[in-house]
Amino acid sequence: MKIDVLTLFPDMFIPMLSSSIIGRAVENGLLKVNLYNIRDFAKNKHKQVDDYPYGGGHGMILAPQPLFDALYHVLESCQDSKPKVILMSPQGKVLNQELAKQLAQEQHMVIICGHYEGVDQRVIDKFVDLEVSIGDYVLTGGELPAMVLIDCVARLIPGVVGNPESTKDESFARGLLEYPQYTRPYNYEGYTVPDVLLSGNHQEISRWRLKESLRNTLKKRPDLLERAELSPYEIELLKE
Ligand code: ADE
Repeated sequence: MKIDVLTLFPDMFIPMLSSSIIGRAVENGLLKVNLYNIRDFAKNKHKQVDDYPYGGGHGMILAPQPLFDALYHVLESCQDSKPKVILMSPQGKVLNQELAKQLAQEQHMVIICGHYEGVDQRVIDKFVDLEVSIGDYVLTGGELPAMVLIDCVARLIPGVVGNPESTKDESFARGLLEYPQYTRPYNYEGYTVPDVLLSGNHQEISRWRLKESLRNTLKKRPDLLERAELSPYEIELLKE
């Protein structure tokens, strides 16, 4: 997958793109991220990228010229397939695992990181296919949201996460939270591992995990359980 990021702070992305699982995906060529500094496209003498809002009001707005030119530049290099142009914005569709899965199908995304009080509406009208929010709170810019989006989409690209099973079983994969996990030692300061996990009985282990997953969801995120379509077997397990 190729991702072009338009930002005023490209350096913010360097640590995430060179560390851990995402760093390895970049190294392996499974993920290619190009960082563009919006300021480099400003045509005025002082490389100013923002201006006061028409009609008055507080804060500054990212002006159309640098973003139009940055987007023309990025889009020029891909005549064949049109990339999905995404603006990170608190007004956008709230990111969840379902949206991440859909976006993981894209070959090419262009992510615009807004800043200041927002982006001139004409940029959105002309270029943006989708606005994405990472939650109902306001951050100072779109960089952290863009990194969240890149991380959760990139890990769904086949080969990025070592074992594909680990993205299948996890929280939200089917609208349930995960079951508790344990590793060695068996007894740590008197806290022990549930015996079923040492039984070697895989059917019993699966049953226990499903039950704990259902209980965990009921306790921590009952809203998710309302939406999950539980089988009669799962409903029985929950009652135990
Ligand atoms: N920019 C500022 N706040 C944001 C949010 N919650 N999601 C996406 N982009 C943002």
